[in-house]
Amino acid sequence: MRIYCATTNPGKLREFRLAAHGVEILPLPDLDKTPECPETGDTFEANAIQKALYHSARVPDLLFAEDSGLEVRSLGGAPGIYSARFAGAAASDEDNNRLLLERLDGVSDRSARYVAVVALASGGSLVRTFRGEVAGEILDAPRGRGGFGYDPLFYYPPYGRTFAETSADEKLAVSHRGAALAALFRWLAETSSK
Ligand code: IMP
Repeated sequence: MRIYCATTNPGKLREFRLAAHGVEILPLPDLDKTPECPETGDTFEANAIQKALYHSARVPDLLFAEDSGLEVRSLGGAPGIYSARFAGAAASDEDNNRLLLERLDGVSDRSARYVAVVALASGGSLVRTFRGEVAGEILDAPRGRGGFGYDPLFYYPPYGRTFAETSADEKLAVSHRGAALAALFRWLAETSSK
């Protein structure tokens, strides 16, 4: 089986492929030349659906898009759907991490969660969505070199390490993206065997 995926984020694409177990994940042709999909929703679900529908009309097969981010309790759920552009439209991961540490300076409740929503579409219509979450804490300084985004600050208590200090397999086994993708691939396997 093959499935298209709409992302320009290399960190996400690596994790999608690792989770795919035999399903071929195809990046969308010419995604870098396609005008970027507007993300105007106010939930992860709305944005994942918007991206999936936008790109799905262009390919013959199933396609999924994913929207994800970090929700920090003491910041009222920020950066949330704005995680990629927390420190501005052209912000790097380092810029976003620096701003997060600034906002949490002196704050004792460091609890947070990552959320991922995958939207599956076919021929321009939504098939369904899959959601995954993982709870953790925001450290006061980065640790580790793996992963991407906020991973050096995201401490996962059951491992006693940040996601940037875990292997890609260890992260995927417990992560928001791992859970959403596992649900997607389970559903695809069940549906195609009927
Ligand atoms: P999106 O591409 O609009 O869905 O933005 C996702 C953003 O959320 C990423 O650019 C990261 O800032 C953050 N994010 C989502 N998942 C992860 C993760 O697994 N590790 C670290 N950061 C993540």
